[in-house]
Amino acid sequence: AHVPVICVDGPTASGKGTLASRIAQRLGWHYLDSGALYRLTALAAVQSGLSLDAGHEAAIARMAERLPVRFDSERVWLDGVDVSDAIRTEAAGMNASRVSALPAVRAALVSLQHSFRALPGLVADGRDMGTVIFPDAPLKVYLTASAAQRAERRHRQLSAKGIATTIDGLRADLEARDARDSQRAVAPLVPAPDALLLDNSEQSIDQSVQLVLQWWEDRQ
Ligand code: C5P
Repeated sequence: AHVPVICVDGPTASGKGTLASRIAQRLGWHYLDSGALYRLTALAAVQSGLSLDAGHEAAIARMAERLPVRFDSERVWLDGVDVSDAIRTEAAGMNASRVSALPAVRAALVSLQHSFRALPGLVADGRDMGTVIFPDAPLKVYLTASAAQRAERRHRQLSAKGIATTIDGLRADLEARDARDSQRAVAPLVPAPDALLLDNSEQSIDQSVQLVLQWWEDRQ
């Protein structure tokens, strides 16, 4: 049977993860957090003492091809170790952004991402879900929010975890990450031509969830 996919792409801290997982929950579908795969790859590479640049591209790609990874709905394990928190730091995000610019690494993660596509459906979040990984998806959402809003949200999330940061520092980090993700040669961050744009700067998460579910119903 044909498995439907809803793609949610967009920049760092736009709220993709929350939106996509909430939609998956509401529909009873599977959920793919593709950013986690790049974060896991970067962590595995760092642990193996590899530098995250083109010099080690082939070695990192080989690791990505058989990541010893296990997920459940809440946590993720790398080689049997719970790394759910370790992959969520700002440094882990920066490292993910670096390995994700390597074409061989992106290619190595394609089949793992495809394997998440299973009935009754998949909600996938990332940067290139609609443009590269699931180009035939019947619904593609491109989620944005202003840099100021994104920095403030990230600041609140990290403060809640007891991690001290400054809004200005976070904003500089996410703008650097956006620039790298948008300017890379392979699978840059751009909306798919058939994506619906959703700017959630002034919207609650509930409103965004409702809107996307409405878009999905309208397609039926
Ligand atoms: O979404 P998240 O912040 O977890 O992604 C971490 C990094 O992984 C991003 O900054 C981006 O460079 C990369 N990424 C990507 N393609 C995806 C998902 C994430 O290049 N589909």
